[in-house]
Amino acid sequence: MPSLVEALSRDVGAAFAALELPAELGRVVESDRPDFAPYQCNGAMAAAKQAKRNPREIAQSIAEKLAADHLSMKVEVAGPGFLNLTPDDAAYSTQANVLASDERTGADSAAHPLKLMIDFGGPNVAKPMHVGHLRSSVIGDCLQRLMRFRGHDVVSDIHLGDWGLQMGHLITELEDEQPDLPYFDGEVTGGYPSEPPVTIDDLSRLYPQASAKAKEDPARNERSRKATAELQAGRPGYRALLAHFIAVSIAALKEDFNALGVHFDLWKGESDVNDLIPEVVADFKAKGVAEESDGALIVRVARDSDKKELAPLILVSSAGAALYATTDLATILERRREQDPQLILYVVDLGQSDHFEQVFRAAYKAGLAQEGGLEHVKFGTVNGTDGKRLRTRAGGTFKLADLIEQARDRARDRLNEAGLGAELSKDEFESVAVSVANAAIKFSDLSNVRTTNYIFDLDRFVSFEGKTGPYLQYQSVRIKSILRKATDQGLEPGEIVVGKAEEAALVRRLDGFNAAVIRAERDRAPNVLCEHAYNLAQAFSGFYANCPILPEKDEAIRASRLKLAATTLRQLELVLGLIGMDVPERM
Ligand code: ARG
Repeated sequence: MPSLVEALSRDVGAAFAALELPAELGRVVESDRPDFAPYQCNGAMAAAKQAKRNPREIAQSIAEKLAADHLSMKVEVAGPGFLNLTPDDAAYSTQANVLASDERTGADSAAHPLKLMIDFGGPNVAKPMHVGHLRSSVIGDCLQRLMRFRGHDVVSDIHLGDWGLQMGHLITELEDEQPDLPYFDGEVTGGYPSEPPVTIDDLSRLYPQASAKAKEDPARNERSRKATAELQAGRPGYRALLAHFIAVSIAALKEDFNALGVHFDLWKGESDVNDLIPEVVADFKAKGVAEESDGALIVRVARDSDKKELAPLILVSSAGAALYATTDLATILERRREQDPQLILYVVDLGQSDHFEQVFRAAYKAGLAQEGGLEHVKFGTVNGTDGKRLRTRAGGTFKLADLIEQARDRARDRLNEAGLGAELSKDEFESVAVSVANAAIKFSDLSNVRTTNYIFDLDRFVSFEGKTGPYLQYQSVRIKSILRKATDQGLEPGEIVVGKAEEAALVRRLDGFNAAVIRAERDRAPNVLCEHAYNLAQAFSGFYANCPILPEKDEAIRASRLKLAATTLRQLELVLGLIGMDVPERM
């Protein structure tokens, strides 16, 4: 169904056409001077230029034509030839009832649904996750929700980092601690224990321990490198260990991600495509895409049009190892065979831009993917309040679990300070605190323009005031409470009849949902959804302050406002759901 902007554009476009001017010039937009009129059309200026006529005269003729057509709007000519447009109450009412009767409150599905994969999260086995992984997870999860809402067929994959030197570090460090384990005995080639020899805490200890030693001691590093090479070549004991490491890590990661409400369809990793690497290498050679250079096998990906130099992709290092880019290429092959996606989105920080540019170009060159079928959805870094890259107090990277715990602590404090949740049971209060903490983390991340850096400031994020996740939850809970009271009093929502400016303003916001969703999809821009949610909540506040609902004596007006409130709640829950936030029943 067309939105008000679309319907107005159609009508004004028709008026342009009737005057033998291009109909596209009748495009209507939300006005940047809403104090004059909520919508405007600036096409008369362009038309005047084309026809070498006076813009104000053209605008005047359009206004007259529109008046003669008896449309449900007021038209005024302003300045050099702006058309200011104000729908009348009947137009708002009609639109509001259409939105209210639609399950998706006006949001369309994509006309051409795609088969699409989203690669996000990307934590590394044994290494603690840092905020870069958090951003990837939060943005990627929002995009998968949005894409599904639009009707695309989405498969998400966490793409674990489980195939680098860190695995060699883990293996050798474990060997030093428990040399008698059967995994290290070269003679034993099977029948390994099914119980893992390590816990997640062991893994988090072993890796930094080994990597610190390796930094000091080149021989120690060489041992890890050798173990990594043997692992990659298929040494059975090491493969069995790897499987344990991965299983133990995945179990811990699943807990963290579940706590955050972030979900992946596939829990695959770099190691899953090891067997495809020889095939990729052979194929690249056969196609003449890869060439020898100083003992390594490389793919030249630079283009004449490049503004800065892009190094060749290293397919096989001079030491014979497959690298990060090689596993990414092999993963594209695997995905093509198993899912055959039309598009793969990689939600990974800006710092990996060159890596993805190299991988994509190499994949296109070798015909592994269709040009344009791979897209890097990049994002900026997260800084501390000191403006530097976020670190823990001890100077290390943040652990996701710690961050979530901190946010929950703040959420409990804030709820208490705000006097919220006082009448909830202990369990209910805790579940509200969890959901407030998640909302704070997600909204504060997603409301930033994706590619900019942002400052991580939990105190601000967990506030119930300002542009925050908790504020939006609070507003939604407030509407829920109004609706509950209405039900208790036996009051029913009825047809929407717009009569006040604040009602019209609320309808305009509700009506903008479809455009926001489409723009968010087009630009892979969660911040557009956040903006919409916030503006909607603000419009509701304005409405609620000026248009009494339950105390309203006129039954029809009360029923209309109840319906407006219920529709607002439905849309808020939809958009917050896309952001990955839930709305508690009460707080
Ligand atoms: N594990 C990588 C890292 O921590 C991120 C993986 C991103 N995805 C990919 N297909 N390369 O940097």
